[in-house]
Amino acid sequence: MSSSEFDTKAFRQALGCFPTGVAVVTTRGERGGAIGMTVNSFTSVSLNPPLVLWCLDKRSERYPTFTSSEAFVISVLGTAHEEVSSQLARPGAHSLDHIPLLPTELGPPALADALAVFECAAHGIHDAGDHAILLGHVLRFARRQAGAPLVFYQGKYGALA
Ligand SMILES: Cc1cc2nc3c(=O)[nH]c(=O)nc-3n(C[C@H](O)[C@H](O)[C@H](O)COP(=O)(O)O)c2cc1C
Repeated sequence: MSSSEFDTKAFRQALGCFPTGVAVVTTRGERGGAIGMTVNSFTSVSLNPPLVLWCLDKRSERYPTFTSSEAFVISVLGTAHEEVSSQLARPGAHSLDHIPLLPTELGPPALADALAVFECAAHGIHDAGDHAILLGHVLRFARRQAGAPLVFYQGKYGALA
């Protein structure tokens, strides 16, 4: 199949049949201010060493900040975070002002009430088409015992039945 026959819109819709969780990745910008971004590409990679990844669109305004950062924090969202998730998915809306946060030892803040938090040292960036794959070495993590995960499926938020 030539690329001109490849239906990107239908491809996106087919990918949307795979339900995912939702996370916010935070990091510190050059001027020290923290930024965040909603992602559903977060995936576990390796237990030993402990590695995770997420994928960053090269067209994102946040691309230079995330790819030059030595550390990032991943907060796994619960159903109560839907509004925060929408906010941090808006183009240009990177600020964490007015979002309840918790400090981390590593530096970038975590979202308050996240179901799990992974503090990561940047562990390499891999080129992948129009995205980059950002690997993180998990230095510390925390987990809440209760709470329902926010789910993303076919372009919409939901929850487990
Ligand atoms: C549920 C959801 C998941 C998303 N996952 C990703 C992702 O994994 N990687 C990514 O680069 N953008 C993802 N986005 C888009 C970004 O959150 C954001 O909209 C995009 O970076 C455009 O803004 P920017 O140019 O200001 O960065 C996702 C958006 C939503 C709503």
